[in-house]
Amino acid sequence: MQKKRLLTGVQPSGALHIGNYLGALKPFVSIYGEYESMLMVADYHSLTTLKDSGQVRENIMSAVRDYVAIGVDPKRVIIFQQSAIQAHTELAWILECQVTVPFLMQAHAYKDKVAKGLEANAGLFCYPMLMAADILIYDTDVVPIGQDQKQHVEYAREAAAKFNKVYGDTFKDPEEMILRDVATVPGTDGQKMSKSYGNTIPLFGTKNEILKAVMSIITDSKGESPENVYAIHRLIKDETEIAALYKSNKGKYKVVKDALAEDIESLVAPMREKRDSITDSDVVRILKDGAERAREQAEAKMKVVRERVGVAL
Ligand code: ADP
Ligand code: TRP
Repeated sequence: MQKKRLLTGVQPSGALHIGNYLGALKPFVSIYGEYESMLMVADYHSLTTLKDSGQVRENIMSAVRDYVAIGVDPKRVIIFQQSAIQAHTELAWILECQVTVPFLMQAHAYKDKVAKGLEANAGLFCYPMLMAADILIYDTDVVPIGQDQKQHVEYAREAAAKFNKVYGDTFKDPEEMILRDVATVPGTDGQKMSKSYGNTIPLFGTKNEILKAVMSIITDSKGESPENVYAIHRLIKDETEIAALYKSNKGKYKVVKDALAEDIESLVAPMREKRDSITDSDVVRILKDGAERAREQAEAKMKVVRERVGVAL
């Protein structure tokens, strides 16, 4: 039986944290083999916020290294750069011509920025149609994403429906798959771990950086068991084992923090080693190979799309 098509995109945005790993990367590794999977580095999406070309390049390289290091096999998953397949931006334009301005004004990412009094660029405004193009061009069935991206998949469905209504059945309806292996991973201050809150434990940090982040976890001196430490620990180690550890070390915060740092280190060390062994030329080769495979499919779809809209003579 033909496997279903899965596609997800990552905005290359720099160093990953334990929350990204447990909430998005690890669940991806556990499911991708069941599908015909594609992993896209959404570098053009990142231009809506990133203006430093060196940083953009660095982040693209880094994103590929991260995914391969955590166990994504480039032979089994098509790993590619969004910018390498020009048909994405071409299809985004065609989709933008199907939807209205008020429709795009409902997008959370755009609305939030405007509500904060910030000026949104036109790229951010059209962002959902580029994402719709990413998804629709490969006849994607499932799109693994975090909860915050759900609306964007709805936009892709709407765009597909609008196009199909005018030009005939062309695009498949994609379904979102909310990765929910773990609930929100808390950060060192107990809030959601997020790079924008400065409360992260780095995934590929050195042993010392991990230890430093763990030692900075805010503990409530009133309780016998440091809740914020436990809340992270239970996500990376068997809960009965750590319950026993915390029970026999009541009040000894340093002991349990050391144990957490050590457990994170054992989880991370093999992945860090793998990551260090991936060279720049490995990354370039993976992306080149991925782009060739993706391009073939994207071009076949675009041939139909160009005919349907009437530009193919
Ligand atoms: P950040 O909040 O650090 O900016 P992103 O928004 O870039 O993280 O998230 C990238 C992916 O990692 C998303 O799929 C998101 O759902 C997941 N993720 C981020 N932070 C957490 C967290 N604290 N717990 C679980 N998943 C998370
Ligand atoms: N917008 C997504 C994010 O910020 C990244 C993304 C771009 C994406 N294109 C996609 C995700 C297509 C899934 C499918 O996380």
